[in-house]
Amino acid sequence: MGRRAAIVGAGHTRFGVLDAGPRELLRSAADQAFASVDRGLDRGAVGEAFLATLGFGGWQIGNVSALLAEETGIVGIPTTRVENACASGGFALRAAVRSIESGAVDVALVVGLEKMTDVGNARRRYWLGVSGDTEWERAAGLTFAGVYGLIASRYLAEHRIGPEALAEVAVKNHANGALNPNAHFQKEVTREAVLRAPRVADPLGLYDCCPVSDGAAALLLVRAESARRFTDTPVYVEGVGAGSDRLAVQERPELTSFAASRRAADEAFRSAGCERTEVSFLEVHDCFTIAELVAIEDLGFAGPGEAASLTLEGTTRRTGRLPVNPDGGLKAKGHPIGATGVSQIYEVFLQLRRAAGARQVPSAERALVHNVGGAGATAAVTICAAG
Ligand code: COA
Repeated sequence: MGRRAAIVGAGHTRFGVLDAGPRELLRSAADQAFASVDRGLDRGAVGEAFLATLGFGGWQIGNVSALLAEETGIVGIPTTRVENACASGGFALRAAVRSIESGAVDVALVVGLEKMTDVGNARRRYWLGVSGDTEWERAAGLTFAGVYGLIASRYLAEHRIGPEALAEVAVKNHANGALNPNAHFQKEVTREAVLRAPRVADPLGLYDCCPVSDGAAALLLVRAESARRFTDTPVYVEGVGAGSDRLAVQERPELTSFAASRRAADEAFRSAGCERTEVSFLEVHDCFTIAELVAIEDLGFAGPGEAASLTLEGTTRRTGRLPVNPDGGLKAKGHPIGATGVSQIYEVFLQLRRAAGARQVPSAERALVHNVGGAGATAAVTICAAG
């Protein structure tokens, strides 16, 4: 198997509606990452840093990656803002892995950050909306919930199923989130409550949607060969893959599958040199419940329509054969846009080191992480394994 880089430290703030501003969130996640390295890592060793952020709402400023250097005390090194909407984190991680693999640097820092709750509803809708097609779809009033509502309608009709599988995704992810002290929502919900919740974009109700969250997450990556200088339990990045598609959903040939995710997954598996049967659990981009079902199929873990039955059978629960989103997913853990992809890898880092506490996935050896930008316009997939 490939060992492209190793993760030796990670940090994470609480996700939710937070008082902390963006600088404080960024600093807190990065400080935790440095403090978590078992044998220590000198800040002066970091060769390059990446900040994943949409630059949301009141935080919307240019050249923001300079603040990453400033707040983490590493001024002088190259810093780059990575913005691919909700997939910013996955692409920032990929950039850091490439930087290490190329031999350019020995140590890289990746931070994902979003402050979303410091602006009103109208500005929030605007900032979310600009990550979709603004010429036609947004102009016609289509929000992201609206796009995923259309995808859900088509999926249920194509496979002749009811909304129970969507509801089960929410029930499972809220149950997992209830075990995650960093999650935005730490409460369980019942299938009945999900099904009778107020509609947001039919057939999606309140509990089918991710919330609007603040938060940050950070990762420290080093060369695979040097990982054990820093810790006895590194987590190796074995494969990375990425893909893109047309921005407007109306210009794609199908609604219920994302070509960008399929391409990203195939590339990640080729790059890792492993098979799907060797993956112990998945962290997928469930911005809406339907997105989890589509992801499981696009990533090659189920055929068209089969993710619904796998979910209803309990296969994707934390103790099932293929756990999906043990941290609560975007649905319950929250979705601070730029932080999400980094947070997904943070969960994998804990799980593969058997440090996930009450939500530990039994026999976690290898994980796949899937991070999507907008409604499938960009996607990044990462495969990680225990050391
Ligand atoms: N899931 C579960 N509960 C939620 C929730 C969610 N997604 N969003 C809000 N709530 C809860 C709140 O905690 C609050 O509960 P309380 O009354 O017990 O305190 C209640 O619902 C009302 O919250 P409020 O913030 O007023 O909801 P809202 O109607 O303004 O927003 C959504 C609800 C679903 C519209 C909003 O969360 C949303 O837009 N989500 C999607 C974000 C998005 O598109 N991200 C990009 C994805 S590609």
